[in-house]
Amino acid sequence: MAIISSNQQPSEPKKQIKARESPQLYETTEASLLEAEAQADEQNNNQQEETIRPQHLSDYIGQKDLKEVLDIAIQAAKSRQEALDHLLLYGPPGLGKTTMALILASEMGVGCKITTAPALERPRDIVGLLVNLKPHDILFIDEIHRLTRMTEEILYPAMEDFRLDITIGKGTSARTRSIPLQPFTLVGATTRVGALTSPLRDRFGLIQRLRFYEPDELAEIVTRTAQILQTTVTPEGSEEIARRSRGTPRIANRLLKRVRDYAEVKQFGEITAEVAEEALELFNVDPCGLDWTDRRLLTVAIEHFRGGPVGLETLAAATGEDAQTIEEVYEPYLLQIGYWNRTPRGRVATAAAWEHLGYTPPDEQLSLRF
Ligand SMILES: Nc1ncnc2c1ncn2[C@@H]1O[C@H](COP(=O)(O)OP(=O)(O)OP(=O)(O)O)[C@@H](O)[C@H]1O
Ligand SMILES: [Mg+2]
Repeated sequence: MAIISSNQQPSEPKKQIKARESPQLYETTEASLLEAEAQADEQNNNQQEETIRPQHLSDYIGQKDLKEVLDIAIQAAKSRQEALDHLLLYGPPGLGKTTMALILASEMGVGCKITTAPALERPRDIVGLLVNLKPHDILFIDEIHRLTRMTEEILYPAMEDFRLDITIGKGTSARTRSIPLQPFTLVGATTRVGALTSPLRDRFGLIQRLRFYEPDELAEIVTRTAQILQTTVTPEGSEEIARRSRGTPRIANRLLKRVRDYAEVKQFGEITAEVAEEALELFNVDPCGLDWTDRRLLTVAIEHFRGGPVGLETLAAATGEDAQTIEEVYEPYLLQIGYWNRTPRGRVATAAAWEHLGYTPPDEQLSLRF
């Protein structure tokens, strides 16, 4: 499976290793050395990220309904020797959308081109990708709600009839030419399905939501990743990390790495529940998985606005966070665990949130408990 990522620079690992070893290069400024080191770190991280990413549908833990739907779609497309239907995946960040697109390509035995909407600003960006697709290839567009109008209009006939309509000339002498494309599958990913235009949304044959993972599914992910990273973790250790991972595999893997560092430095042989708890306390991840920003949002809502209702923009200004980030990254999990509510008059911290942070909820807040 060929993975071509349009927003990744070609890497030069050899050169970087040399830069650190060769004596005459020691004269380079500290800043550039630090930069080289940071790049090498990022590369290592990327490589590690790829080794822990599940490769097959059978390694993809959780999302049972999604897997069932896709398994049927894959088998049907394969038996008809057709490209898979266009698929739109939506849900909060880190739940496995990119991973699923790569798995679909490997299960179908086709290539996958990965790009993101902000990289497709000019019409020729999308045209270049489309004309180079091989039969049944997957084109993965991340943040698809951010496509420009022109790019979207090029995609309509491409998705529907595997055809590119190109206008040549201007005004009365303008002519449209059609160029046939190979049948392909567009996999779109978004955190905001509501922000998609309806003509684009309607062109997806399958629209699937990814949901937050259950603690036992996350524990399974932690155990699997620990095996790949050759770290010993007890079942209780995995559960402790899972509980604090906000229902999100990316966070589970990240917390596991932090706990592994802690266990190594403190020379604990294995990650037990106690080790995980100690380490995560140190990293400011509380028993519900809330991090500094989550707690700040709740605290500001409680202390400055008596728990709300408070408008999103006001909350953003009061916390110094971006409104869209609050809406897409922080709110979904707080809503899921019942600490937060969206009402027509604004956001409300529920009684459970007051109690979690050690405040006594006022009576009117208690009536919002659910
Ligand atoms: N079902 C799963 N089973 C095991 N690991 C998973 C699963 N889903 C995701 N992961 C892990 O979580 C990490 C994040 O997943 P991925 O990059 O696919 O998220 P995403 O939904 O594309 O996020 P974003 O919206 O931020 O791009 C991956 O490195 C992968 O290893
Ligand atoms: Mg992704």
